Amino acid sequence: MARRIVQVAVNGVTGRMGYRQHLVRSLLAIRDDGGVLLDDGTSVVPEPVLVGRSEERLRQIAGRHEIQRWTTSLDDVLSDPGIDVYFDSQVTAAREASVRQAIAAGKHVYTEKPAAGSLDGAVRLARAAGIVPGVVQDKLFLPGVIKLRRLINDGFFGRVLSVRLEFGYWVFERDPIAAQRRSWNYREEHGGGIILDMFPHWQYLLADLFGPITALYARHATHIPLRWDEKGSRYDVTAEDAAYALLEFDSGAIAAVNSSWAVRVNRRELIELQVDGTAGSAVAGLRHCAVQHRSPRRCRCGTRTCRLWRHRVAELGIASPPPRCAAAGCTSPACAGAARFAGLLG
Ligand SMILES: NC(=O)c1ccc[n+]([C@@H]2O[C@H](COP(=O)([O-])OP(=O)(O)OC[C@H]3O[C@@H](n4cnc5c(N)ncnc54)[C@H](O)[C@@H]3O)[C@@H](O)[C@H]2O)c1
Repeated sequence: MARRIVQVAVNGVTGRMGYRQHLVRSLLAIRDDGGVLLDDGTSVVPEPVLVGRSEERLRQIAGRHEIQRWTTSLDDVLSDPGIDVYFDSQVTAAREASVRQAIAAGKHVYTEKPAAGSLDGAVRLARAAGIVPGVVQDKLFLPGVIKLRRLINDGFFGRVLSVRLEFGYWVFERDPIAAQRRSWNYREEHGGGIILDMFPHWQYLLADLFGPITALYARHATHIPLRWDEKGSRYDVTAEDAAYALLEFDSGAIAAVNSSWAVRVNRRELIELQVDGTAGSAVAGLRHCAVQHRSPRRCRCGTRTCRLWRHRVAELGIASPPPRCAAAGCTSPACAGAARFAGLLG
């Protein structure tokens, strides 16, 4: 089998996202699996080249995962014609300049979101031509979201009326428990704030599931104004740690979206997406999706259509809008109810 090695410069690899999500769980997992098989039989194998600020930490990561190359010089790696792709998961404020440099060097780019810290910056990047760009949209591929999308496509909800999205957890102030996120997340001047962090996700996720967003109202807040940084020094928080949005879709459905790093949660998953429609409701998380359907009474006439429908509901837990009973002359009240119900929903 032909093998094609693609060298990927991974900048920001010492960070939370760069190390776990992108290096270990993506690039190295694909490499260790033998690569991605193309239709022509070629296997494309990514070969990470680590880029960062700390020699010591890069050396440690390279040694731990048998990675041959690492560097603290972005210039060196971008001037190397052997590097095919530039990936960026640095702090948000450092991204635009590095991505622009990579585009100028002719590298294809894959980057964490947001692509830039401002709209002007994102437009500047979008106008830089000649390469293949990609921005992380990982939430589209969560198992819970995939199930939810299938329900939407199956017409399970009838007409979608409303969406409630709950996201958040308490990020400790580092007094006395260590913070789970670094201090730049709470400094606007360093690209921090929950809006830049989470709203790019909500935009592509909600538009993908429910169609174009036509109106948006959002209110942000800094609930915790003082925190302690990595050195233990107290600092004033300059970025918002919560945002509350109300948005409307082209379809007329309304979404209420709560995002906060100052909530203590008691729910199954970190992100919870509730959808209510005329025919059914669902609550989806990262992995699971629980459904409730407004089914009419089931027909007991025993035709194949009805038996299949019962099977879908009982065995698979998927309750799509009921099919009409196909039995000639069936007068079951359940069937009349189902027909009326289907007619009402259109
Ligand atoms: N896809 C997601 O679900 C998701 C989740 C969280 C964060 N993110 C995004 O990923 C990016 C990285 O977030 P993270 O939580 O991994 O951050 P982090 O603080 O853990 O890591 C930041 C990385 O940037 C490097 N860096 C470069 N310049 C820096 C500077 N001036 N100050 C501090 N660090 C600097 C650090 O060395 C480190 O490797 C952010 O843009 C964030 O918005 C994405």
